[in-house]
Amino acid sequence: MIELSGVTKSFGSNQVLRGIDLRIESNSSMVIIGGSGTGKSVLLKCILGLVAPDGGRILLNGEDVTRAERDAFLARFGMLFQGAALFDSLHVWENVAFRLLRGAQKRPKAEAREIAIEKLRRVGLGPQVADLYPAELSGGMQKRVGLARAIAAEPEIIFFDEPTTGLDPIMAGVINDLIREIVTEMGATAITITHDMTSVRAIADNVAMLHRGKIRWTGPVSELDTTPDPYVQQFIHGRAEGPIEALR
Ligand SMILES: Nc1ncnc2c1ncn2[C@@H]1O[C@H](COP(=O)(O)OP(=O)(O)O)[C@@H](O)[C@H]1O
Ligand SMILES: [Mg+2]
Repeated sequence: MIELSGVTKSFGSNQVLRGIDLRIESNSSMVIIGGSGTGKSVLLKCILGLVAPDGGRILLNGEDVTRAERDAFLARFGMLFQGAALFDSLHVWENVAFRLLRGAQKRPKAEAREIAIEKLRRVGLGPQVADLYPAELSGGMQKRVGLARAIAAEPEIIFFDEPTTGLDPIMAGVINDLIREIVTEMGATAITITHDMTSVRAIADNVAMLHRGKIRWTGPVSELDTTPDPYVQQFIHGRAEGPIEALR
């Protein structure tokens, strides 16, 4: 569904992406791992068209994303931002229904609210939460609201940027399971960035490891533990010693 070939991106003399080749099959869950500052977010922004690559190609169902018509293109994506990124001044339901209240996918208010309540239920939150403000919710509940917003417009492709960062292990487990279920149920294609290995195992069909601007290794999650690649082994076991130089 998504195909990257030879994607490069530099900021000044900082060569962040040095030729990314990656295929993401439709209705599958791809998890991208890699150290901090390796370019995971830049890669995601390139796919979303928020950052223009210097070279290479990114195709979505065969169509070049840099030439696609913006609104129609973005309507196909859902996004769970790190830290949920909810709008403080909007009620929970208005956050969830954000895209349904404006733009190309605009619905009547009552219908948008109904969909929001249904999506909240999907992530385990009752209708009483709909009229609260984000500040009245715990971190885990905010993350669920962010997840409900990401799926509200029933996107074909959903991005999750570090979905479990800042959550306790139990809440992280709940979010991981929800992501997995939603992707399976909606038949969506998911791309998740994380360095939480528990998340990787819970969410991924396939894993790609980014290192020094290239995809160092990619394969099914079942091969993660057995691949002899020393970079992958160092990363998944969190070893200080190995080919990956720890940045000071
Ligand atoms: N808009 C930008 N301008 C300049 N440098 C950037 C910009 N966005 C990201 N970078 C640089 O690109 C590198 C990768 O960043 P990022 O993709 O955020 O890493 P991570 O893998 O932690 O998500 C970093 O060195 C960062 O400073
Ligand atoms: Mg990042």
